[in-house]
Amino acid sequence: MSRILVTTEIPSPGMDILRAAGEVDLREVDHEQLVDACASGDYAVVVSQLRDRFDAELLASASLVGISNYAVGFDNIDVAAATERGITVANTPGVLTDSTADIAMLLILSTARRAVEADAFVRSGSFTGWEPELLLGSDVSGRVLGLAGFGRIARATARRALGFGMTVKFCPRPPGDREVSDDELGEFAGRVVHASWDEIVTTSDFLSLHVPLSDSTHHLVDAEVLAAMKPSAIVINTARGPVIDEAALVTALREGTVAAAGLDVYEREPALEPGLADLPNTVLLPHVGSATVSVRSEMARLCAANAAAMFRGSMPPHPVNP
Ligand code: DGY
Repeated sequence: MSRILVTTEIPSPGMDILRAAGEVDLREVDHEQLVDACASGDYAVVVSQLRDRFDAELLASASLVGISNYAVGFDNIDVAAATERGITVANTPGVLTDSTADIAMLLILSTARRAVEADAFVRSGSFTGWEPELLLGSDVSGRVLGLAGFGRIARATARRALGFGMTVKFCPRPPGDREVSDDELGEFAGRVVHASWDEIVTTSDFLSLHVPLSDSTHHLVDAEVLAAMKPSAIVINTARGPVIDEAALVTALREGTVAAAGLDVYEREPALEPGLADLPNTVLLPHVGSATVSVRSEMARLCAANAAAMFRGSMPPHPVNP
């Protein structure tokens, strides 16, 4: 009989929606078990996590109706191969935009003002009183924030940065470019600067990444890009780890090619590039862009609604391959 495979329990009200839709099998699977489950014919729909990898090989033997990813990103799924196989893929857009932009801003502020070093300083008992040159950081106001990408999360980050008095530049589709009309810019027309990738790289005080992971964005920030940045620049990543060549970043941070990095995502997550965690000029978060109680619950609701629709044989509310 056809069931819904859920590889990790999702927050309320997700599981209730799924159980009302059909029989749910909740079990963690490794890649081999996922391949077998998808090929078994036992499941119509899989509710998946970012760590579940649906590559072309898995999809070639899969007999599924749909995959409902508990995330807005879907780089863990070969969507072209799923489409070829007639498998619908769905995601959870919109609901985590502000929370992820909050984390981008938090990383901008905490790297600039050395918040993690300062916290460790106080906790270690080293704080003996106000000093003129204690833990000096860099300003945010008046500085240039360069955005790689100009989708929902980049725009929400721009909104916050403008509130902090930053100059915001954006390159909509790095490393290339594309036209952006004033209509498309909407509230940002006249308030942000459309720039080439080269200009973003060479003039930004903060470079914040907001691009999906694809062949063209893999290692978008590599040794060459890091070398072209200002030595005082700070790199922020709330998108996907492999957008940065992490080994090159560690070298650049060590050698002072760039000043600091604030990261929420990693190239080989959850593993860190050796040396990264030893660097004082980094703020490292465990992929928590969407981690608020209400956002995760909203993601669960969307994800379950997508799965329930596909299980019924209908189009999900948020397909990525309509
Ligand atoms: C996503 O949704 O893609 C985030 O990376 C996790 O919430």
